[in-house]
Amino acid sequence: MLIKKPADIRPSEITPPALYAQRRAFIKGTAALAGTILLGPGPGHAADDDLKPTPYKDITSYNNFYEFGASKTDPAEHAGRLKTRPWTVTVEGHCEKPGQYALEDILAPHTAEERIYRLRCVEAWSMVVPWLGIPLGKILPRFQPTASAKYVEFTTLLDPAQMPGQKTRLLDWPYVEGLRMDEALHPLTLLATGLYGKELPNQNGAPLRLVVPWKYGFKSIKSIVKIRFSEQMPRTSWAGENPAEYGFYANVNPEVDHPRWSQRKERRVGEFFRRDTLPFNGYAAEVAGLYTGMDLHRFF
Ligand code: MTE
Repeated sequence: MLIKKPADIRPSEITPPALYAQRRAFIKGTAALAGTILLGPGPGHAADDDLKPTPYKDITSYNNFYEFGASKTDPAEHAGRLKTRPWTVTVEGHCEKPGQYALEDILAPHTAEERIYRLRCVEAWSMVVPWLGIPLGKILPRFQPTASAKYVEFTTLLDPAQMPGQKTRLLDWPYVEGLRMDEALHPLTLLATGLYGKELPNQNGAPLRLVVPWKYGFKSIKSIVKIRFSEQMPRTSWAGENPAEYGFYANVNPEVDHPRWSQRKERRVGEFFRRDTLPFNGYAAEVAGLYTGMDLHRFF
């Protein structure tokens, strides 16, 4: 699909989101005529309408990014002040190539791909986002994790001067998330650098955020500055804050209620009627095998 590094995309090349849907419809028609395979929606999708991208305006103005405040409009209002260049990512823990890597060096040999994924929040709303990113499984092996690397932990920038939410005790800062190694290396796991064909807006986690489409949105940690290979399961922010409500795995599971509400339905932002929530957010065929033999009521 769109094979460009965000840094290579000139403003003149940016597709206005309103034209985007038309362009995709056109590309689809053309691909069908030419008999080519369109990779766009990626695996795990149902009806076409199910993956109709949420408008750019909604994706970038209805956010969770507690570093900028707890209301949905705070990130768009306050994240503009975050300086995302230069940006360094520290790689540490059980690997042969730890170090401080410039953002450009992390991304350098790769080209960003477009992946249209659902994002399902534990608060029971969802969106469909045309992400630009690089599969994490292409990036992590370069740091040569050792046999002791069972998990990968990610940390968001800690800088209360730029992130006013960090002056409050909303969470135990910095924000931390983690994946088991096989989840991190799964081809659906993306290190996102953009959306709708352009660079990530700050409120969506610039310059680098995780996207794990079969898990609740809170696993998709934003503005990452550290990647750590660990032997033990990381203490993740939400599970650490409230272990009765948020587990380490956080797989989208309509069968397991959040203690304060059901997870059976969701409201797609911009739509009126609620939809059924799909197991693993619709990606069960690809990822259910990662959890064979696990009691998913216990490991929620
Ligand atoms: N990452 C950081 N650093 N801080 C946050 O508060 N919120 C999470 C996740 N990543 C969050 C974060 C939650 S709860 C959700 S639902 C998604 O980001 C929202 O992503 P979006 O705003 O791009 O839709």
